This record gives sequence, structure tokens and C-alpha cells, in this order.
Amino acid sequence: MRQTPKSKGGVSDCKLVILESFDHQTVLFAFGSNLRIMVQINYIEHGGAKWTVEIAEGISLMEGALKYRIPGIDGDCGGACACATCHVYVDPDWFDRLPAMNELERGMLKFASETRQYSRLACQIKAAPALNGLTVTIPQSQY
Ligand code: FES
Repeated sequence: MRQTPKSKGGVSDCKLVILESFDHQTVLFAFGSNLRIMVQINYIEHGGAKWTVEIAEGISLMEGALKYRIPGIDGDCGGACACATCHVYVDPDWFDRLPAMNELERGMLKFASETRQYSRLACQIKAAPALNGLTVTIPQSQY
């Protein structure tokens, strides 16, 4: 029996689902699955407005902010670590759980305004299950 995909249950976003019956057991085959783990990220605007959104694992926090049109993160260089328009302050409780900053990011942060101890570039932080619930604040200078 062949079906077109439905947007219910654990097979959403599959391009093709095939149900076959073998010896009275039904087996589900899913091809072209786009299933991705979603990670909850909290963005806090300078004025205090809080955005809690879900972005897919592997997507950067800059890309996530653009997707949801969160003000204050422009991402002018498209994530090439060349503009610092994605500068954020990471919640101190989360800072040490992030992947280490590389020299390129460290250098670009020198061009950002109002940097602090917990500054990072959102384009260099990829959503991952270990970061579920991460909170970042957007600096005043980016408004
Ligand atoms: S988007 Fe340009 S440095 Fe992050």
C-alpha cells in the first residue's frame, strides 16, 4: 500500500512513505525524510521583549533570528564571520556549554560595539540538542 505523506505523527516532512505488509506485520518505510531535531532558543531584545522559538539542529542562531524576523540581528555577511551584526550576549549560565570561540570570531568581535565577557557572534553558534533552552540577549547598539 502506498500513501502520500501526512503531516501527522513521526513521519511529517517525509517525501514518500510506503507501508508494506509482510507476514501479517506492517512495516513503514520513509524515504527522503527531512525530520530534524528542533532546539528551543530564547532571544531577548534590548528592551526586554522575549522571543522563544524553535530552530532546527545545525542552523545558526543568526539564521534562526532572521527566520523569525527577530529585531537587532541583521547577519549582513550571511554568517561568514565578517560583519559582527549578529553580536549577542549569552546567558552566563550557558556560556561555558557553547563550543569554544575560534580566532576568526574572537577577531571579529573586536569590531562589535558594547562587547562584554559573554559576547559571541550568533552566526558561529549552531543549534544543538545540548543547547535546548539557551538564552541570548541582543545589545542595544544593534537597534
Ligand atoms: S553574520 Fe556576519 S559576523 Fe555573524
